[in-house]
Amino acid sequence: MPGVIRGLLGRAADLAGSQLVLHDLDGGRLDLMRRLAARMIAAAGADLEIRAERELRPALDGADFVFTTFRPGGMRARHLDESIPLRHGVVGQETAGPGGFLMACRSVPVLLEIASVLEETAPRAWIVNYTNPTNIVTDAVLRHSGARIVGLCDQHAGDLELWAGLLGWPAGRLEADWLGLNHATWAERLRLDGVEVGGELTERLERLEPPSGDLAMRQLVELARALGLLPNSYARYYFFHDDVLAELRARPTTRAQDVMARMPALFDDYQAAARQHAPQPSRERGGGGHGELAIEAICAIAGDEGRRLIVNTRNGGVIEGLEAEAVVEVPSLVGAAGPAPLAMGPLPRPVRGLTMAIHEYEWLAAEAAATGDRRRALQALMAHPFVKRKAVADAILEEGLAAHRDHLPQFFPAG
Ligand code: G6P
Ligand code: MN
Repeated sequence: MPGVIRGLLGRAADLAGSQLVLHDLDGGRLDLMRRLAARMIAAAGADLEIRAERELRPALDGADFVFTTFRPGGMRARHLDESIPLRHGVVGQETAGPGGFLMACRSVPVLLEIASVLEETAPRAWIVNYTNPTNIVTDAVLRHSGARIVGLCDQHAGDLELWAGLLGWPAGRLEADWLGLNHATWAERLRLDGVEVGGELTERLERLEPPSGDLAMRQLVELARALGLLPNSYARYYFFHDDVLAELRARPTTRAQDVMARMPALFDDYQAAARQHAPQPSRERGGGGHGELAIEAICAIAGDEGRRLIVNTRNGGVIEGLEAEAVVEVPSLVGAAGPAPLAMGPLPRPVRGLTMAIHEYEWLAAEAAATGDRRRALQALMAHPFVKRKAVADAILEEGLAAHRDHLPQFFPAG
């Protein structure tokens, strides 16, 4: 959250006179974040009003933009998402694979509730979504409500920086056409100061030595060289599935547990910051760049800027060969009418089949998460490239739904 406030303050002049409403189910955290944000806003002398709402309806009332980022069940649920697939020989990851499917099943009903309140109270509002899996959530809202939504993830920014560093290009001057699906994007076309680098990318990739040390980096470099393009960091889960599985199984903790262990210190930091006159809360986790992309998207729509941002939106034909209704992650010009995705051509052939398979899984997952249809849920897991056997899909589905029962009203209707 502090990252969102930082983002807002960075665009305070464009947003002058706006009212910011925070909403959280956890009253203690909500109050802390309100106090911290109020201090940050006051210290910056920004013309922004702030209030906090425990209830959803008053929080959404009259909104122009609804920035959504939450995880039903919190980090404990993430731990289950990451550990259940592992027991069945499948990578356990919070957004990719069956872990991401289970998270989608928890996230989608909440987003659909927000969408339905908005349809009644603020039908012109834009949902600017960070809730993961962001593309599945975006797809479910687009298909099952009349609300307006754009899905965000800043992975591409981090990935571009990573590749710029490895390839010896200054990140700030490099622009990439990342195209595909969220956490499954690929970049073949790169521009340095607006000029296509073309064959230079291939040459630099060929000369690139896999860095020693970090295994994930070595895998990514191997992939880039083999595929002849820049892969998203999540590509290793697909092309090194069994290696990652072994790595995860050998670890004593899940990523969720590692993150949980850091939470108390982070919240102590926020508590201390909220008492300062000019707070400088930690930039760790939600304190850094995350919020900035959301604010950029909001300003681009509010100010009809037509800015190029990489977002998740309907394909509509910009990726050739992928159905028009697919939700894709592509460079788009974002203005008053929302994102207008830019024509990207076909998917690179070496990853075309994989990307199409992931899309089919995502379509089924969004459908299952929105409707609670168990057969669709099983089909989604069976369609996922990580899942090789029906019995595995059956087992993960049964165990996963039971473990998350309290957050799955669509699968377990009351009574
Ligand atoms: C990246 C991804 C996000 C994801 C996050 C998890 O930023 O793009 O979608 O939520 O990593 O990071 P964490 O530190 O929680 O493992
Ligand atoms: Mn992401």
